[in-house]
Amino acid sequence: MADAFEDADLAGYYDLINEFGEGDRFYLELVPAADAVLDVGCGTGTLLKAARAGGHPGRLVGLDPAEGMLLQARREPDVEWIRGDLGTVAFDGGFDLVVMTGHAFQVFLTDDEVRTQFTAIRRALDPGGRFAFETRNPGARAWERWTPENGTDIVGHDGERVRVEHFVESVADGLVTMTETFSCPDWPEPRVDRGTLRFTDADHLDSLPVGTGFEVAERYGSWDRAALTGSSREIITIARPGRTPAGLQR
Ligand SMILES: C[S@@+](CC[C@H](N)C(=O)[O-])C[C@H]1O[C@@H](n2cnc3c(N)ncnc32)[C@H](O)[C@@H]1O
Repeated sequence: MADAFEDADLAGYYDLINEFGEGDRFYLELVPAADAVLDVGCGTGTLLKAARAGGHPGRLVGLDPAEGMLLQARREPDVEWIRGDLGTVAFDGGFDLVVMTGHAFQVFLTDDEVRTQFTAIRRALDPGGRFAFETRNPGARAWERWTPENGTDIVGHDGERVRVEHFVESVADGLVTMTETFSCPDWPEPRVDRGTLRFTDADHLDSLPVGTGFEVAERYGSWDRAALTGSSREIITIARPGRTPAGLQR
């Protein structure tokens, strides 16, 4: 079993499968107002590379535990790329914007894990800072489209033709477990990654007893800033440190 984020070859396909899109543009628009930006779960570094290429003059820090992804990110040397996670790397202020993009939020499978992230992110933010992240809306049932028939064909960096297919193994209690299979006629066998993502609805997201004093400043259901509805694809949140210590407040 391969780990698509750790494996340097498979991580090399990530940007071919996930092209720069409207989600990246949404976050990129938040960057100019921030002197310093922390991207938690930065992956291949799409957002911060674009921020630097766009002329952002300040501090840009990308944090991710997966070495394969960071190998891609480090192609931009003018960003601080740190291997790790918020359980092992602590930031004490210094950031005006923290982001968690590309549905990275969904790798945290329990309320406790989410609470740990929120607490650490709150600590990383300076007064007036913002935390922006998104999670797929369970109401849109994205996992029903993750079928082999909806696979993607890509041409790798060495010209190899790779097919990427998803297969959902189980959906239970908001946890979707699936495999991602990479196959190529030139390889002796396919390479398979298996993982679980958590789907959290907006009410639960806002009721999480995070105890970090965040409050929701903005909430959208799509990247064009439309209001969240039951069937919106995304739950996009911009949170700010609030006046109460009770957690996410609306
Ligand atoms: C779907 S990718 C998103 C990457 C990037 N943010 C983007 O928009 O392309 C999820 C990322 O979360 C990272 N990740 C997994 N566990 C993590 C953790 N505990 N803390 C931070 N990032 C984590 C993975 O290594 C992976 O790079």
